[in-house]
Amino acid sequence: MAYLALVQTDIERVLFDGSAIDKRLDELAAQITADYSGRELKVIAILTGSLMFMSDLLRRIPLPVKLDCLSAVSYQGKTQASGKVTFKQLAIPDVSGRDVLILDDILDTGHTLAAVRKRLETAKPRSLRSCVLLRKRKQRAWHIEANYIGFEIDDEFVVGYGLDFMERYRNLPYIGVLRKELTEQSNQ
Ligand code: IMP
Ligand code: MG
Repeated sequence: MAYLALVQTDIERVLFDGSAIDKRLDELAAQITADYSGRELKVIAILTGSLMFMSDLLRRIPLPVKLDCLSAVSYQGKTQASGKVTFKQLAIPDVSGRDVLILDDILDTGHTLAAVRKRLETAKPRSLRSCVLLRKRKQRAWHIEANYIGFEIDDEFVVGYGLDFMERYRNLPYIGVLRKELTEQSNQ
């Protein structure tokens, strides 16, 4: 069976298909372009989950952009946040005096965004904002918010369009809820 058809059995339901994502990216990009008009943006994308989002969003923003990526790991392969965020790179990207926009796939517990913000703030950017494709509606231990949000979702585990479960499903062209049995097995 073809890959997409095979994987479909792991997906409980599709939340946002390709055209819904495209439409929302048009709106987000227009908003960001207007807000940063006349400036140069320094984008820091959090790998690996934000890859598709970053590439599709940035091509819609007709401003001068410099791009850097940071690898932040908070999940260690499970569906429960560990609370500890580790960075693969020792060096902090050059953000001093710049208008910085952090891009991440999803705001869940907020640990990742809080850790990235703290790390970048030490290098004294001119401004520091964040943009997430998805934001889960839930209580967060960290009172952290994103400045730009693609979609609000319920507190469920989602995959596709960059988001993974144990490194799989990132290449699905839509965002869907993973069947609970699959995530529950790995949390035992
Ligand atoms: P936070 O630090 O808990 O906010 O989580 C941020 C990271 O956890 C994201 O960048 C994702 O890699 C991962 N994550 C959180 N929720 C999900 C989900 O529903 N599906 C896939 N990855 C998720
Ligand atoms: Mg991630």
